[in-house]
Amino acid sequence: MKIWAHRGCSQRYPENTQIAFEKAMGIKGLEGIELDVQLTKDQELVVVHDERVDRTTEGTGFVKDFTLAELKRLHIYAGEKPSQRILTMDEVFDLAGSRMKEGMKLNIELKTGVFPYPGIEEKLVGLVHRRGASGNVVYSSFYALSLEKVRRLDPEAEIGVLDGKVSDCLFKGIGCKAGALHPFWKAMDLPKERLEGYRVRAWLTGHLYPEKPTGGRLDLEALKRQGITDVFLNEPEVYV
Ligand code: G3P
Ligand code: CA
Repeated sequence: MKIWAHRGCSQRYPENTQIAFEKAMGIKGLEGIELDVQLTKDQELVVVHDERVDRTTEGTGFVKDFTLAELKRLHIYAGEKPSQRILTMDEVFDLAGSRMKEGMKLNIELKTGVFPYPGIEEKLVGLVHRRGASGNVVYSSFYALSLEKVRRLDPEAEIGVLDGKVSDCLFKGIGCKAGALHPFWKAMDLPKERLEGYRVRAWLTGHLYPEKPTGGRLDLEALKRQGITDVFLNEPEVYV
Protein backbone atom coordinates (compact mmCIF):
# COMPACT_ATOMS: atom_id res chain seq x y z
CA MET A 1 0.00 0.00 0.00
CA LYS A 2 1.43 3.36 -1.05
CA ILE A 3 0.86 6.26 1.31
CA TRP A 4 0.27 9.87 0.22
CA ALA A 5 0.15 12.97 2.40
CA HIS A 6 -3.27 14.52 1.83
CA ARG A 7 -2.79 18.31 1.60
CA GLY A 8 0.59 17.59 3.26
CA CYS A 9 0.64 16.39 6.88
CA SER A 10 -2.72 18.07 7.37
CA GLN A 11 -3.72 16.54 10.70
CA ARG A 12 -0.98 18.15 12.79
CA TYR A 13 -0.24 21.12 10.51
CA PRO A 14 -2.42 23.44 8.45
CA GLU A 15 -3.33 21.93 5.09
CA ASN A 16 -1.60 22.89 1.83
CA THR A 17 1.09 24.96 3.56
CA GLN A 18 4.87 25.01 3.57
CA ILE A 19 5.06 23.47 7.05
CA ALA A 20 2.63 20.66 6.14
CA PHE A 21 4.58 19.89 2.96
CA GLU A 22 7.98 20.04 4.72
CA LYS A 23 6.78 17.55 7.35
CA ALA A 24 5.57 15.26 4.57
CA MET A 25 8.85 15.54 2.68
CA GLY A 26 10.62 14.40 5.83
CA ILE A 27 8.82 11.04 5.76
CA LYS A 28 11.02 8.38 4.20
CA GLY A 29 9.03 6.01 2.02
CA LEU A 30 6.17 8.41 1.36
CA GLU A 31 4.80 7.97 -2.17
CA GLY A 32 3.89 11.61 -2.59
CA ILE A 33 1.99 14.70 -1.58
CA GLU A 34 -1.53 15.58 -2.69
CA LEU A 35 -2.51 19.24 -3.04
CA ASP A 36 -5.20 21.43 -4.61
CA VAL A 37 -4.81 24.22 -7.20
CA GLN A 38 -6.97 27.16 -8.24
CA LEU A 39 -6.42 30.42 -10.15
CA THR A 40 -6.25 33.93 -8.71
CA LYS A 41 -7.87 37.00 -10.25
CA ASP A 42 -4.53 37.74 -11.95
CA GLN A 43 -4.28 34.17 -13.27
CA GLU A 44 -1.68 32.76 -10.88
CA LEU A 45 -1.75 29.10 -9.82
CA VAL A 46 -2.27 28.92 -6.06
CA VAL A 47 -2.45 25.98 -3.69
CA VAL A 48 -5.69 26.14 -1.76
CA HIS A 49 -8.54 23.68 -1.25
CA ASP A 50 -11.75 25.68 -0.80
CA GLU A 51 -13.07 28.09 -3.42
CA ARG A 52 -13.33 30.62 -0.56
CA VAL A 53 -10.51 31.73 1.74
CA ASP A 54 -12.77 31.96 4.80
CA ARG A 55 -12.12 28.60 6.46
CA THR A 56 -8.33 28.67 6.43
CA THR A 57 -7.49 32.40 6.65
CA GLU A 58 -8.78 35.59 8.28
CA GLY A 59 -10.01 36.77 4.87
CA THR A 60 -13.40 36.44 3.29
CA GLY A 61 -14.38 35.86 -0.33
CA PHE A 62 -13.52 33.73 -3.32
CA VAL A 63 -9.95 32.87 -4.31
CA LYS A 64 -10.81 33.93 -7.89
CA ASP A 65 -11.56 37.49 -6.71
CA PHE A 66 -8.15 38.04 -5.04
CA THR A 67 -4.91 38.93 -6.79
CA LEU A 68 -1.88 36.90 -5.74
CA ALA A 69 -0.51 39.92 -3.83
CA GLU A 70 -3.79 40.18 -1.90
CA LEU A 71 -3.82 36.45 -1.09
CA LYS A 72 -0.23 36.65 0.11
CA ARG A 73 -1.26 39.15 2.77
CA LEU A 74 -3.58 36.59 4.41
CA HIS A 75 -2.47 34.42 7.34
CA ILE A 76 -3.07 30.72 7.90
CA TYR A 77 -3.23 29.83 11.59
CA ALA A 78 -0.53 27.36 12.64
CA GLY A 79 -0.80 27.28 16.44
CA GLU A 80 2.49 28.06 18.16
CA LYS A 81 4.35 28.00 14.83
CA PRO A 82 4.56 31.14 12.70
CA SER A 83 1.43 31.63 10.63
CA GLN A 84 1.64 30.29 7.10
CA ARG A 85 0.84 31.91 3.73
CA ILE A 86 -0.97 30.62 0.68
CA LEU A 87 1.62 29.10 -1.66
CA THR A 88 1.89 29.36 -5.41
CA MET A 89 2.37 26.17 -7.42
CA ASP A 90 5.78 27.53 -8.42
CA GLU A 91 6.78 27.81 -4.76
CA VAL A 92 5.76 24.19 -4.18
CA PHE A 93 8.16 23.11 -6.92
CA ASP A 94 10.89 25.17 -5.23
CA LEU A 95 10.19 23.36 -1.95
CA ALA A 96 9.73 19.86 -3.34
CA GLY A 97 12.18 19.84 -6.26
CA SER A 98 14.99 17.90 -4.57
CA ARG A 99 12.64 15.28 -3.06
CA MET A 100 10.97 14.89 -6.44
CA LYS A 101 14.36 14.15 -8.00
CA GLU A 102 14.59 11.28 -5.49
CA GLY A 103 11.23 9.96 -6.72
CA MET A 104 8.62 11.64 -4.56
CA LYS A 105 5.42 12.42 -6.48
CA LEU A 106 2.95 15.26 -6.47
CA ASN A 107 -0.76 14.69 -7.04
CA ILE A 108 -2.07 18.03 -8.23
CA GLU A 109 -5.84 18.25 -8.00
CA LEU A 110 -7.41 20.84 -10.29
CA LYS A 111 -10.23 22.35 -8.25
CA THR A 112 -12.34 23.15 -11.30
CA GLY A 113 -15.66 21.64 -10.27
CA VAL A 114 -17.24 24.89 -9.03
CA PHE A 115 -15.40 27.48 -11.13
CA PRO A 116 -13.82 26.06 -14.30
CA TYR A 117 -10.93 28.59 -14.27
CA PRO A 118 -10.45 28.80 -18.07
CA GLY A 119 -6.78 28.32 -18.94
CA ILE A 120 -5.80 26.59 -15.69
CA GLU A 121 -4.91 23.32 -17.45
CA GLU A 122 -2.55 25.07 -19.92
CA LYS A 123 -0.87 26.97 -17.10
CA LEU A 124 -0.42 23.92 -14.93
CA VAL A 125 0.82 21.54 -17.63
CA GLY A 126 3.17 24.27 -18.91
CA LEU A 127 4.61 24.77 -15.43
CA VAL A 128 5.04 21.05 -14.80
CA HIS A 129 6.93 20.72 -18.09
CA ARG A 130 9.11 23.79 -17.45
CA ARG A 131 10.01 22.28 -14.09
CA GLY A 132 10.90 18.96 -15.74
CA ALA A 133 8.46 17.24 -13.38
CA SER A 134 6.14 15.41 -15.79
CA GLY A 135 7.29 11.97 -14.64
CA ASN A 136 6.54 12.78 -11.00
CA VAL A 137 3.13 14.40 -11.34
CA VAL A 138 -0.33 12.87 -11.21
CA TYR A 139 -3.09 15.22 -12.35
CA SER A 140 -6.52 14.69 -10.83
CA SER A 141 -9.90 16.36 -10.77
CA PHE A 142 -13.55 15.66 -10.08
CA TYR A 143 -14.25 17.59 -13.29
CA ALA A 144 -13.84 15.28 -16.31
CA LEU A 145 -13.49 18.13 -18.85
CA SER A 146 -10.38 19.40 -17.03
CA LEU A 147 -8.81 15.98 -17.28
CA GLU A 148 -9.63 15.71 -20.98
CA LYS A 149 -7.89 19.06 -21.53
CA VAL A 150 -4.84 17.82 -19.61
CA ARG A 151 -4.79 14.71 -21.82
CA ARG A 152 -4.89 16.84 -24.99
CA LEU A 153 -2.04 18.99 -23.65
CA ASP A 154 0.10 16.05 -22.57
CA PRO A 155 -0.55 12.62 -24.10
CA GLU A 156 1.92 11.10 -21.62
CA ALA A 157 0.45 12.66 -18.46
CA GLU A 158 -0.56 10.40 -15.60
CA ILE A 159 -4.21 11.14 -14.83
CA GLY A 160 -6.26 10.04 -11.84
CA VAL A 161 -10.04 10.44 -12.00
CA LEU A 162 -11.71 11.61 -8.81
CA ASP A 163 -15.23 10.62 -7.87
CA GLY A 164 -17.18 8.92 -5.10
CA LYS A 165 -17.82 5.42 -6.45
CA VAL A 166 -14.98 3.56 -8.15
CA SER A 167 -17.42 2.58 -10.95
CA ASP A 168 -17.99 6.28 -11.68
CA CYS A 169 -14.23 6.86 -11.75
CA LEU A 170 -13.88 4.05 -14.28
CA PHE A 171 -16.61 5.49 -16.53
CA LYS A 172 -15.33 9.08 -16.29
CA GLY A 173 -11.79 7.92 -17.01
CA ILE A 174 -12.53 6.73 -20.53
CA GLY A 175 -12.44 10.18 -22.17
CA CYS A 176 -9.14 11.22 -20.62
CA LYS A 177 -7.52 7.75 -20.81
CA ALA A 178 -6.92 7.72 -17.09
CA GLY A 179 -4.36 5.33 -15.68
CA ALA A 180 -5.61 5.76 -12.14
CA LEU A 181 -8.93 5.84 -10.32
CA HIS A 182 -9.31 8.00 -7.20
CA PRO A 183 -12.53 6.89 -5.41
CA PHE A 184 -13.84 7.51 -1.92
CA TRP A 185 -12.48 4.69 0.24
CA LYS A 186 -15.94 3.46 1.22
CA ALA A 187 -17.29 3.41 -2.32
CA MET A 188 -15.54 0.39 -3.80
CA ASP A 189 -18.56 -0.92 -5.71
CA LEU A 190 -16.68 -3.13 -8.20
CA PRO A 191 -14.81 -6.37 -7.64
CA LYS A 192 -11.02 -6.13 -7.56
CA GLU A 193 -10.76 -8.01 -10.87
CA ARG A 194 -12.54 -5.15 -12.72
CA LEU A 195 -9.81 -2.73 -11.56
CA GLU A 196 -6.83 -4.59 -12.94
CA GLY A 197 -4.42 -2.36 -14.84
CA TYR A 198 -5.35 0.73 -12.82
CA ARG A 199 -3.79 2.25 -9.77
CA VAL A 200 -6.62 2.78 -7.30
CA ARG A 201 -5.86 5.62 -4.92
CA ALA A 202 -8.53 6.06 -2.28
CA TRP A 203 -9.32 9.30 -0.49
CA LEU A 204 -10.88 9.70 2.92
CA THR A 205 -12.72 12.42 4.70
CA GLY A 206 -11.74 13.10 8.28
CA HIS A 207 -10.35 15.47 10.76
CA LEU A 208 -8.11 18.28 9.65
CA TYR A 209 -5.93 20.70 11.60
CA PRO A 210 -6.51 22.07 14.24
CA GLU A 211 -8.91 19.29 15.27
CA LYS A 212 -7.38 16.59 17.46
CA PRO A 213 -6.50 13.21 15.89
CA THR A 214 -9.09 10.56 16.68
CA GLY A 215 -6.50 7.85 17.32
CA GLY A 216 -8.39 5.61 14.88
CA ARG A 217 -6.33 3.36 12.62
CA LEU A 218 -7.23 2.16 9.15
CA ASP A 219 -6.96 -1.52 8.27
CA LEU A 220 -4.78 -1.14 5.20
CA GLU A 221 -4.81 -4.88 4.49
CA ALA A 222 -8.60 -4.82 4.21
CA LEU A 223 -8.39 -1.92 1.73
CA LYS A 224 -5.79 -3.79 -0.30
CA ARG A 225 -8.11 -6.79 -0.58
CA GLN A 226 -10.67 -4.51 -2.26
CA GLY A 227 -8.17 -3.48 -4.93
CA ILE A 228 -6.98 -0.20 -3.37
CA THR A 229 -3.30 0.37 -4.13
CA ASP A 230 -2.72 3.80 -2.52
CA VAL A 231 -4.35 5.97 0.15
CA PHE A 232 -4.37 9.71 0.75
CA LEU A 233 -4.02 10.30 4.49
CA ASN A 234 -4.02 13.36 6.73
CA GLU A 235 -1.68 11.49 9.10
CA PRO A 236 0.76 9.73 6.74
CA GLU A 237 3.43 9.98 9.45
CA VAL A 238 1.71 7.31 11.55
CA TYR A 239 1.36 4.81 8.69
CA VAL A 240 4.63 4.95 6.69
O1 G3P B 1 -7.59 13.69 -3.99
C1 G3P B 1 -8.31 13.16 -2.95
C2 G3P B 1 -9.02 14.20 -2.17
O2 G3P B 1 -8.14 15.27 -1.96
C3 G3P B 1 -10.29 14.70 -2.79
O3 G3P B 1 -11.07 15.43 -1.90
O4 G3P B 1 -11.97 17.49 -0.93
O5 G3P B 1 -9.90 16.52 0.02
O6 G3P B 1 -9.88 17.62 -2.20
P1 G3P B 1 -10.67 16.83 -1.24
CA1 CA C 1 -7.70 17.32 -2.92
